[in-house]
Amino acid sequence: MQRTRKIGIGFVVTVALALLVAPWAQAQEAEYIGTKNCRMCHNKKTTGAQWTVWSKSGHKKALEVLKSEESVALGKELGLEKPPSESPECLKCHVTAYDVKAKKAPAKIVPSDGVGCESCHGASSLHLADAKKAMKDKSIDLTKNHHIPSEAVCKTCHNDSSPTWKADRYTLKDGTKVGFDFEQAKKKIAHPNPTKK
Ligand code: HEC
Ligand code: HEC
Ligand code: HEC
Ligand code: HEC
Repeated sequence: MQRTRKIGIGFVVTVALALLVAPWAQAQEAEYIGTKNCRMCHNKKTTGAQWTVWSKSGHKKALEVLKSEESVALGKELGLEKPPSESPECLKCHVTAYDVKAKKAPAKIVPSDGVGCESCHGASSLHLADAKKAMKDKSIDLTKNHHIPSEAVCKTCHNDSSPTWKADRYTLKDGTKVGFDFEQAKKKIAHPNPTKK
């Protein structure tokens, strides 16, 4: 009995040490912080006022649109138990990082912000920490803890499982109709920083 116990503790200590040394054990996971936390640094006219551009876009209204007549009618047609603005079936693409199983968004995500910054740029707590450090330390690389979204990110929502999907929403240069075109769609939501290239 005594002996087993010693081995047990030795094992625990070894594993704990291994965890401290293993590089993957130190890799932090970013958490969602909400769009309000981007406004203070990304709303200056001189650097592109990204927050204002987004707040006037359809993405900001993505929860609101679930309360429209069209949405309510669609909800009935699909036999949803609850109104669309409360249904995981709709919220999963109309609210940032909505967790269908848990039936809620992460704590700091405000659902009425619809599709917020972090829907495309990813959970940003590490970027926020970097940005605060960067105010004193100019060597911090602010592109590191960030995602500039690829086409695949858009297509997690802009795809044919959306009940209002229109396969001919966009027209390519050669006349082909498609449901989503990354280049044209990106231009519609553009919020560049004019001080960069
Ligand atoms: C404390 C200030 C601060 C906060 C808060 C902040 N950022 Fe930033 N962010 C910066 C600075 C400074 C840069 C570097 C200059 C630039 O690209 O505008 C930057 C750069 C970026 C970039 C461009 C990265 C690249 O690869 O070029 C993105 C995207 C971004 N931030 C998104 C966000 C989002 C989303 C939030 C909120 C969840 C946020 N930021 C919150 C200061 C901040
Ligand atoms: C797979 C993701 C996804 C799901 C699930 C989803 N939507 Fe959407 N919804 C979108 C996207 C993306 C758009 C923007 C239009 C586009 O580009 O397809 C949109 C647009 C809309 C619009 C605006 C009309 C339009 O054609 O632009 C309404 C209304 C709407 N959705 C209602 C709903 C309702 C109601 C539900 C639930 C029954 C729902 N959506 C579920 C992704 C989704
Ligand atoms: C629907 C997706 C989407 C949303 C929502 C979104 N962005 Fe972006 N953002 C992009 C894309 C795509 C780019 C890169 C565009 C390019 O380089 O062609 C970008 C670029 C940026 C850049 C870099 C600009 C530059 O020229 O260096 C910043 C900063 C940024 N976004 C901040 C924000 C903030 C803050 C919010 C919320 C208020 C936000 N974004 C919301 C998709 C999004
Ligand atoms: C989390 C889901 C989600 C992601 C990710 C997403 N979208 Fe959307 N998008 C929507 C929804 C929902 C709407 C409809 C909102 C409405 O009608 O109010 C929409 C609407 C749009 C519209 C039409 C409305 C407008 O603002 O002009 C464009 C263009 C668009 N998205 C581009 C993009 C691009 C480009 C990306 C990727 C860089 C992207 N979206 C990523 C959910 C998403």
